[in-house]
Amino acid sequence: MELDWKNLGFGIMKTDYNVRCVFKDGLWGELEVSSDEYLPIHIGATCLHYGQESFEGLKAFTGKDGRIRLFRHKENALRMIESAKGIHLAEVPIELFMEAVEKVVMLNKRFIPPHGTGASLYIRPLLIGTGPEVGVKPAAEYTFLIFVMPVGPYFKAGFKPVDVMICRDHDRAAPLGTGHLKVGGNYAASMGSIADAHQSGFATALYLDAKEKKYIDECGPANFFGIKDNTYITPKSHSILPSITNRSLQDLAKQMGMKVEVRPVPVEELSTFEEVGACGTAAVISPIGKVADVDNGITYSFGDGVTPGPVSTKLYETLLGMQNGDLEDSFGWTKILD
Ligand SMILES: Cc1ncc(COP(=O)(O)O)c(C=O)c1O
Repeated sequence: MELDWKNLGFGIMKTDYNVRCVFKDGLWGELEVSSDEYLPIHIGATCLHYGQESFEGLKAFTGKDGRIRLFRHKENALRMIESAKGIHLAEVPIELFMEAVEKVVMLNKRFIPPHGTGASLYIRPLLIGTGPEVGVKPAAEYTFLIFVMPVGPYFKAGFKPVDVMICRDHDRAAPLGTGHLKVGGNYAASMGSIADAHQSGFATALYLDAKEKKYIDECGPANFFGIKDNTYITPKSHSILPSITNRSLQDLAKQMGMKVEVRPVPVEELSTFEEVGACGTAAVISPIGKVADVDNGITYSFGDGVTPGPVSTKLYETLLGMQNGDLEDSFGWTKILD
């Protein structure tokens, strides 16, 4: 089988194996390998009724040296533990999570895109309440599983600015809700506003803080950052997901001699940024060309709208280079699997 690596989209594709593990009677069982894409599930499972579920997303890359690299997968393990604490799921131990990621990647080695194709292997860990309950309470049984698929770049057009729309009539997360956790309910809550943004011709919705609608929260399923005066500025908020990409970019920015500020970012500050972007595992950085505040009749523009800014470009190339082994990983973020 030879896949058309250069023309892969970002979508579900069947690969050879997934790995699964069940938590029952207070204990995690053995990690099992399956080639079935389906999961037999009780019709009363809490994930189906009450959204008792958490997921993660990370990638594996093939380097120029042909070796397979994973990027910061311990951080995903730690974030899934936070999500589990937040909605009372059984916690997946860090070692089990990391072992499962490494195992499923190696089992599906033939699906890991070669170096230079711009593609990677997307890894999707999932933790769901599979025990049945009809009252609102945490399940007694959980299933942790991971499946993988090769994916192309998130945006077909490549590293080019996108336009986003400020969302003023929806919130993806409440001020003291679950926005800081990677749980399904947040994504269900965001689908309407993202669909509205698409319908209006924008790449995604830019969310504001739910309490006052004064500060920038997140940008669709990605964090937000702005660049000005040699400073990387990114929102501090309880209702945004702590992005591993964002934290990595902050460290890179510091290494490049920039200042880093993590603080509330008022919407009006958009007019002062030299560059803005969204960041996350899927695209690393999506530079933003325009932010439309449609309800207030204001559009904030950055650069010429078609060329990514120099700082975003440098950050993007450096992080991607470290992930795929083209650049030295001075932070020890990647793990080579042999
Ligand atoms: C809501 C949300 N914000 C931010 C991110 C970016 O996080 P990361 O960089 O860890 O992929 C994601 C994607 O995981 C997300 O779903």
